[in-house]
Amino acid sequence: MNPLESTLNWYSVAPVGEIIDSGRRLFSAGELRLAIFHLEGKWVAIDNHCPHRGGPIAAGEWNGRCITCPWHAAQYDLASGQPLSIESRPLSKLDVRVADGILQVDLDSLRVDDSSEDDGIQRTVVRYGQGGEVGRFGTIHDLNLTRGAQVVVQSHRGIELGVVLQTGGTAGTLRGEILRIATNEDCAAMESSRAKAAEVLELANQRLEQSEVRVQLVEADQTLDGGTVLIYYLGEATEQLGPVAVELGETTGKNVRFQKLILE
Ligand code: FES
Repeated sequence: MNPLESTLNWYSVAPVGEIIDSGRRLFSAGELRLAIFHLEGKWVAIDNHCPHRGGPIAAGEWNGRCITCPWHAAQYDLASGQPLSIESRPLSKLDVRVADGILQVDLDSLRVDDSSEDDGIQRTVVRYGQGGEVGRFGTIHDLNLTRGAQVVVQSHRGIELGVVLQTGGTAGTLRGEILRIATNEDCAAMESSRAKAAEVLELANQRLEQSEVRVQLVEADQTLDGGTVLIYYLGEATEQLGPVAVELGETTGKNVRFQKLILE
């Protein structure tokens, strides 16, 4: 078996040597966004959603055992997962092992601590982005949301538009924060964002054709704040997409990312 393929429960992240220098790697495993850290000689794997409001915790400033979330500056002890500076649930962690020099995480071991007191955050299931991603978003405000309402959310990609699928609930890992109910201006801004994303998609198609990368680009999406363009593709993931994303980013002044579409 290729050691980089997933086993039943153990997902292979990368050879140890690839991560040990930087000490940190963010990665996706299916729908999950995870991160692994080399900390005091041990490996620590966490869900890359801050328990406070779902921010991309692992991209934050990291100093010794302390990681600081880039969204609201909550700090957590990576070793124990406990919050250091804010009322919040602990980080959600996974078991890690090294097998034949490959770092692996047990996806079934993802531990979400829902046992603590109600944190006052209302959780709402939202579909967001052209790719139709679905996740829980939180708010501490009484927005009186109903099913089908359009909302502006802060996701790991930036600020974008979403549609409420289900309201209610105080438990579950958050993908991000609901900022407000979408206004007509937000919806118009999203339309123009999508037009700009289509231009980047066209550029990406031309660039991939030149470099003979064999994936099929199917859709592009730009966040409402205009900072990130996400290009969805079908086909095998390939490292060749990384340099193309960097080049497109330099040409367009945006953060361009390729995201594989997973077919059931
Ligand atoms: S501090 Fe991380 S989402 Fe608020």
